[in-house]
Amino acid sequence: MPRFTNADYLQQQQYQNSSNLGARIRLHQLFTVAPKDIHRWAFEMLLACSGSQSNILEAGCGRGDLWAKNTDRIPANWQVTLTDFSAGMLEDARKNIGDIATRFTMQQADVQQLAFDDASFDTVIANYMLYHVPNIPQGIAELRRVLKPSGTLHAFTNGQNHMHELTELVREFFPTDDAFAVDSAANYFGLENGADLLKTAFSDVVMLRYESHLQVTETQPLMDYVTSMIRLVDVDAKRLDALHDKIAAHIAEKGFLHITKDSGLFVARG
Ligand SMILES: C[S@@+](CC[C@H](N)C(=O)[O-])C[C@H]1O[C@@H](n2cnc3c(N)ncnc32)[C@H](O)[C@@H]1O
Repeated sequence: MPRFTNADYLQQQQYQNSSNLGARIRLHQLFTVAPKDIHRWAFEMLLACSGSQSNILEAGCGRGDLWAKNTDRIPANWQVTLTDFSAGMLEDARKNIGDIATRFTMQQADVQQLAFDDASFDTVIANYMLYHVPNIPQGIAELRRVLKPSGTLHAFTNGQNHMHELTELVREFFPTDDAFAVDSAANYFGLENGADLLKTAFSDVVMLRYESHLQVTETQPLMDYVTSMIRLVDVDAKRLDALHDKIAAHIAEKGFLHITKDSGLFVARG
């Protein structure tokens, strides 16, 4: 089974806690050029679709950044449930969200098998996580099942072009290396095939692009991003150093490294 959807690897290594995910979020937070922060933008989409009394589920919530970044405007009558299949991730979400985490219900759960009654939620969120699910139609069917008939699903994901400059750089130094089996989230649930997958359970699916790119001016956060996706013991350190030096030289010469972002939000109903 590919690493992208290998539940043992994901639960026991990649997402045992939020340290790998945190390295990737840090790169985006430091160097994204966009009209608005992605979590602020995502929350506005949520506010637009949800009433002031909503019951909301986020599956695969990670560090809970969507909530941590919007603590100032979570409506008082929203009931929010956060789930993730990693207990360590939920623990880090609790810390990241801070004082208001006591308002949230948190539960360890695989999105393919949710312990909620049918039609429990007004809105369900599955951001940057459906591409990890071994049986994606089953995960989507579970989200549809626990959603009220009138409810809305929000799901961010990436497209095939996402960070392609970085993929090409990594391939140059690790052309055949298994540890860097560069795979794309978009091959599983991406901007190109996501609508068709969602239409197995929803009748109305639209995709809204989040326009942004990275302008990276420091090498180390980018190297931390790269190494967050592998087990370092698997990797030839000399080639990692060579990748570092190439990125550093590019930044020294041009002032920054431009990296394309290809990201968007599916909103599904019906
Ligand atoms: C790339 S992170 C995204 C986290 C968060 N949604 C965000 O946007 O920052 C993917 C998350 O999905 C979780 N995850 C992966 N497969 C899952 C599954 N089958 N069921 C529930 N959670 C899963 C991981 O533990 C991780 O926290």
